[in-house]
Amino acid sequence: MTDLPRDILIDVMEDVIEDLHGHVHRVSDLAVDLGTGLGLPEEDLDCLALAGVLHDVGKIHLDSTILGKPGPLDESERELMQRHPELGFAMTRNRLDAKVAEAILYHHERFDGQGYPFGLIGEGIPILSRIVLVADAFDAMTSTRAYQPALPIEFAVGEIRTHAGTQFDPSVVQIFLELATVDRLPVELSA
Ligand SMILES: [Fe+2]
Repeated sequence: MTDLPRDILIDVMEDVIEDLHGHVHRVSDLAVDLGTGLGLPEEDLDCLALAGVLHDVGKIHLDSTILGKPGPLDESERELMQRHPELGFAMTRNRLDAKVAEAILYHHERFDGQGYPFGLIGEGIPILSRIVLVADAFDAMTSTRAYQPALPIEFAVGEIRTHAGTQFDPSVVQIFLELATVDRLPVELSA
């Protein structure tokens, strides 16, 4: 795939989904830093950079009333929202490296098996997805969203630490905490 269609895809995604402005690039940067800390090969870091940017691309298919809802989603809205990993996978699997498409498909799987869409457990979840999940969760907490103001960095770091081994892969959290102690976490400028 050339750079041109990929860039267009990213531009369209950022235009359609207001909450994603800036977010996807911070997730990508943090994901690559986490992957580097874990010693992943260069090829995987390239896939991680792209998966970080495109992890929520499937949300393009969702209604803006759901994406911009300033409160909790009801059950049917949540079911629709939870289709976005599979929608993103369908959009990318024939266009990008298989590892990128898989990272998108599994980026809401949790280490304890309580995630979606498949409930995969532990190392059964691709490492790139386990990394994107941590980067995405941190940035979702520390950036302004339709449903919540930005939360303090210290709070977000504490949440990631608390959920190591349940929501998050402990080995990814360990690298995350090392980045936090040296002030290397990317955050929204206004936060
Ligand atoms: Fe997502």
